[in-house]
Amino acid sequence: MRKIILITGASSGLGAGMAREFAAKGRDLALCARRTERLEELQRELLALNPSIRVAIRALDVNNYEQVFTVFRAFAEEFGGLDRVIVNAGIGKGKPVGTGYFWANRQTAETNFVAALAQCEAALEIFRRQQRGHLVMISSMSAMRGMPGNITTYAATKAGAAALAEGIRADLLRSPIRVSTIYPGYIRSEINEKVKNTPFIVDTATGCRALAAAIEKEKAEACVPAWPWTLLGLAMRNFPLKLVARLN
Ligand SMILES: NC(=O)c1ccc[n+]([C@@H]2O[C@H](COP(=O)([O-])OP(=O)(O)OC[C@H]3O[C@@H](n4cnc5c(N)ncnc54)[C@H](OP(=O)(O)O)[C@@H]3O)[C@@H](O)[C@H]2O)c1
Repeated sequence: MRKIILITGASSGLGAGMAREFAAKGRDLALCARRTERLEELQRELLALNPSIRVAIRALDVNNYEQVFTVFRAFAEEFGGLDRVIVNAGIGKGKPVGTGYFWANRQTAETNFVAALAQCEAALEIFRRQQRGHLVMISSMSAMRGMPGNITTYAATKAGAAALAEGIRADLLRSPIRVSTIYPGYIRSEINEKVKNTPFIVDTATGCRALAAAIEKEKAEACVPAWPWTLLGLAMRNFPLKLVARLN
C-alpha cells in the first residue's frame, strides 16, 4: 500500500479532491500549492475526516524549480520517504497560436510541461534513492490529438507530459518504481469554470473518486472516468482531425 502521498496543486479541484479520497483511505498526505490558506483549510478538513492520518502542507510555486526540489526533499525528510507523487498542478490558460497571446500560451507550456519535468526530476531523485515509489502524471484527454482554439498549447503540454511519463516508465521498466499516466476527461473544477463545451462532464467528487481508484490500480495508463473516455480516447486517436476538433 502507498501510505505517504505527495500531491501538487492540492489547493483546489482535482488535487484537493484526490487528497479527500486518499485521506478517507487512511493515507498520509504531503500537499502543496501557492494558495496556502486553502491548504490550511483543507488540512483541517482532512484531519477532521480522519484524525489518524498525517497531513503536511507547504507553499510551492512549481515554476520556481529550485523550490520544487526543496519542497519535495523537505516532505521526504519529514515523512521518512515518499510512496507516491502525483504531478497534478496545472493551468488551462491559452489562446489560438498567432493571435497575440504568446505570454499566456508560454505560461501554460512552462507550468504544465517544464514544471512537470521539474516535479518528475525531484520525485525520481527520491524514488531512485529509495528504490521504490509510484509516479503519477496527470495528463488530459486533450493529449490524444492536436486540439484547436484556446487549448492548442494546453493539449500539446499534456501530450508532452504523457510522453515524458512514458519515457520515464521505459527507463524504469526493470525497477520497482511504477509510473502511471492518467488522462482525465472533463471533471468540474476551476480550470473549466468558463469553458462552454464540456461533454460528459462529471462533478468533482465523482471525478476524484474515479481518479483515486484508477491511480490505486497503478496501470501504465488510464482514461478517467473509464466510461466514456477509454472508448473516446481510441476514437480520438483514429478519427479524422475535423471530427476530433469538434470535441472542444
Ligand atoms: N478538471 C478537468 O476537467 C481536467 C481534465 C484534464 C486534466 N486536468 C488536469 O488536472 C490538473 C488539476 O486541475 P484542476 O482541474 O483541479 O484545476 P484547478 O482547480 O484550477 O486546480 C489547479 C491546481 O494547480 C495549482 N497550480 C497552478 N499553477 C501552479 C503553480 N505555478 N504552482 C503550484 N501550483 C499551481 C493550483 O494551486 P495554486 O493556484 O494555489 O498554486 C491548483 O491547486 C491539471 O493539471 C489539469 O490540467 C483537469
